[in-house]
Amino acid sequence: TAHAIPEEPGLDHSLALLQEGYTYISRRCDRFNSDLFLTRIMLTPVVCLRGAEAARFVYEGERFTRRGAMPRSVLLLLQDVGSVQTLDGAAHRHRKAMFLSLMTPDAIPRIGTLLAGHWRDAVRRWEGGGEVVLLDALAEILTRTACDWAGLPVPDADIPALSAELAAMVENAGSLGPSYLVALRLRRRAERRVRHLVERLRAAELEAPPGSAALTIATHRDTDGATLPAGIAAVELLNILRPIVAVGRYITFAALALHRHPEWRERFAQGDEADLEPFVQEVRRLYPFFPMIGGRARQALRWGGHDFAPGDWVLLDLHGTNHDPRLWPEPDRFRPERFRGWQGNPYTLVPQGAGDVAATHRCPGEWITIALMKEAVRQLCRMRYTVPPQDLSISLSQMPAAPASRFVIGAVRPN
Ligand code: HEM
Repeated sequence: TAHAIPEEPGLDHSLALLQEGYTYISRRCDRFNSDLFLTRIMLTPVVCLRGAEAARFVYEGERFTRRGAMPRSVLLLLQDVGSVQTLDGAAHRHRKAMFLSLMTPDAIPRIGTLLAGHWRDAVRRWEGGGEVVLLDALAEILTRTACDWAGLPVPDADIPALSAELAAMVENAGSLGPSYLVALRLRRRAERRVRHLVERLRAAELEAPPGSAALTIATHRDTDGATLPAGIAAVELLNILRPIVAVGRYITFAALALHRHPEWRERFAQGDEADLEPFVQEVRRLYPFFPMIGGRARQALRWGGHDFAPGDWVLLDLHGTNHDPRLWPEPDRFRPERFRGWQGNPYTLVPQGAGDVAATHRCPGEWITIALMKEAVRQLCRMRYTVPPQDLSISLSQMPAAPASRFVIGAVRPN
């Protein structure tokens, strides 16, 4: 039978969520000694959940929709109307299959090779120059990588602007106020830019390679047999370009981990890559990125002794699940060893969502994220640079998080 779950008293806790950021849900779960509790965010009742079983409940069985589950500001910056994230059921699975068709055994390592090329070009430019802010510099390197990988013929002169647009969407997803409005304007500009390219691809004024994301999306047929409206196709292309640029945060966190734990740098620099994958998995587990995911119940549900009515709002704590001490002993320690021989588990390591990627909203970009991170660690261990004194602390109330200094390096040399 249903019983009352713990409830945070008070009218609204939006401010606490913004102030406590990544730790808001898990702190209260700890305090209430419960994997779910009821609170009010934006004056709306919401059940917050964390842990592997909660992740299974939220992801399995298409119980929740993403529609109406995120603040509109976040939706407009990160997804937009008509994108894969806003679809459900058969329409979602069909669109999702299009994304997954891009992740072939050739395409996954190819993105690493493309990154290596653009990385080496950048290092040559940095050599003999001043200091470099790694997180910011990565935006352009990854924009070039993303356009090449997607087969999107963006004129070279447009890359810096596109790179700024893509970086701003990620950077301001957690903010309100003027910086958010600037980012929204940049997003609209990126949409127009990419939409124009889609129209020219369709008119055969431009070419993209067979199997590329650009051509696949431009020619994709929806469940009704029609090609996507050019605006939706542009949104879906941005759904590939933007998160590839976002991987720059994980790469920056990987650089921080190499700095804090130089024994790993030593090993990778010597060509011993046995633990390269465990290293990047531990970066994805430990460092804060996507804090939580929202859903709205599509039907009446019961879980954890709580009855959910259709439309009820939930927030699943991704960061807290990655830091759950029942799943990850000493969760705040950087210990890649924990991933040696790891068999995988769709509900315990959830930085990019949980469950079965084809049937849920779980991120289709995990394989290329890992490929990009591995190549970046290789490049970081090959080149030489100093890490001047700076504030490398990471505030967990800043979403998305980053080292305060955004990781400054100096005296860069290729080797
Ligand atoms: C969805 C995180 C990289 C494409 C998601 C979701 C998360 C996430 C949390 C939502 C899951 C949900 O709604 O349940 C991340 C992080 C990344 C990353 C932290 C690393 C920087 C990528 C990459 C791509 C990508 C490289 C490129 C293909 C997408 C798409 C969706 C998505 C298209 C929507 C999937 C759907 O609704 O079915 N990602 N992602 N992401 N991601 Fe990623």
